[in-house]
Amino acid sequence: MTSPLILKEDERSFLVQVPVGVPLLSRHRYGSEGFQSWFLRHFAPEVPSRFCQSVAVGKQSFLLVPKTADPLPADRLSIKESSAGRVTVLHPYLPRFDWEPPNEQETAALPPLWLDSRATNAYRWDHALGRAFPGWIGTRLGESILYQSENRLSDAERSSLEASGRAMGLVAGYWKRHERAVQKKTKTDLCPELIWGDASTVQGPIKESGVCYDIDFAEGYSFGLFLDQRENRYRVRHNLIEAGFPVISPRVQHRPQVLNTFAYTCGFSVCAALAGAEVVSVDLSRKYLAWGKRNFVANGLDPEKHEFLYGDVFGWIKRFQRRERRFDLIVLDPPTFSRSKEWGAFKVTRDMAKLIEMVVPLLNSGGRLLVSSNAATWEPELFTASIAKAIRTCHRRIGAQVYATQPWDFGVLRAAESYLKTWWLEVLD
Ligand SMILES: C[S@@+](CC[C@H](N)C(=O)[O-])C[C@H]1O[C@@H](n2cnc3c(N)ncnc32)[C@H](O)[C@@H]1O
Repeated sequence: MTSPLILKEDERSFLVQVPVGVPLLSRHRYGSEGFQSWFLRHFAPEVPSRFCQSVAVGKQSFLLVPKTADPLPADRLSIKESSAGRVTVLHPYLPRFDWEPPNEQETAALPPLWLDSRATNAYRWDHALGRAFPGWIGTRLGESILYQSENRLSDAERSSLEASGRAMGLVAGYWKRHERAVQKKTKTDLCPELIWGDASTVQGPIKESGVCYDIDFAEGYSFGLFLDQRENRYRVRHNLIEAGFPVISPRVQHRPQVLNTFAYTCGFSVCAALAGAEVVSVDLSRKYLAWGKRNFVANGLDPEKHEFLYGDVFGWIKRFQRRERRFDLIVLDPPTFSRSKEWGAFKVTRDMAKLIEMVVPLLNSGGRLLVSSNAATWEPELFTASIAKAIRTCHRRIGAQVYATQPWDFGVLRAAESYLKTWWLEVLD
């Protein structure tokens, strides 16, 4: 068992170094109460190395928790006393990322240890290591569970999944095949299939951090929300990227203006609107924008008070430039590949920098940029270097910044490193 390395400490916080992707839980962090602050994130003024990140944490007790929801016996805890605080480490597997799956009975009885189930009922249950079956991913979505695997299920696997799902109090189980090339498949091929339980669960609401989103298993491969953006949505919803770094600059005097590009079902837009912003959502799909409006309504927001713009992001950015529109936050979370009339073939690793050069002039001074990519093969160092270069090309400077990875329930292994890269930036004149 290796404790996290405490790099330095001051009156209020520790700076610790832990492997990337290790989830952190803070009981009392910068004055926040209770486990609502579970989303304690990865703060690094510099880009972390591939395996390590520097994390600033509040002085009062905080926890490093395991990547999975194993109930950990006390003898697996390691407590490090410091002059002004206590670090409790719940991660027994550092630094090798090994773990032994607990048995199925334990799995069925597991509560989501650090998510408040009244606020969040959508998260990864099993990650790639598979608690039920190796190589499987299980995602809890409200009262249903969605399994993903490379191979079709045997009858024995179906019954076993149904038994464990029912023991968890769930009412339906869906399965979909892991697909690497979804573009080449039809919607019907890609839809998850009901493998047990109540078919009326095919559509319905889920909750994430107290916000409602509609999901739909009949809409193809993606059911309506990318759960790995949960922590970033939380940041937008609560107007806080990191202590002392709000999403909307405190200097903003007007109603905050937010541009959500590649908006999909408008998850980021809902959170920004709930936080009080006026939001422009742009997407190439009318269906997703209509879905986004439903998500607004589900949260008591009036879609008429916001803009939902159908069409190519690249075309809209040019229009915004001509109209001299300015924003206080721009969300750039594009797909890895896309095709559009304005751009042709978009490839994120090649074209993100050009996209940033287009959007940065739309940002007010001190405006924030959220740049995110799930392109697993894109090295974090190259990702941030290309963004920084694009900002310099626009003759703008980076102020505050936070680099974030995927949430704890999207496990990280040496063999499967953190794929989600997010850089939060303050862009100064
Ligand atoms: C990976 S999702 C984006 C995820 C989204 N940012 C979120 O928070 O869930 C891809 C979305 O980008 C949209 N899209 C792809 N190419 C586009 C383009 N050129 N202009 C506008 N939207 C585009 C797709 O319709 C789809 O809704």
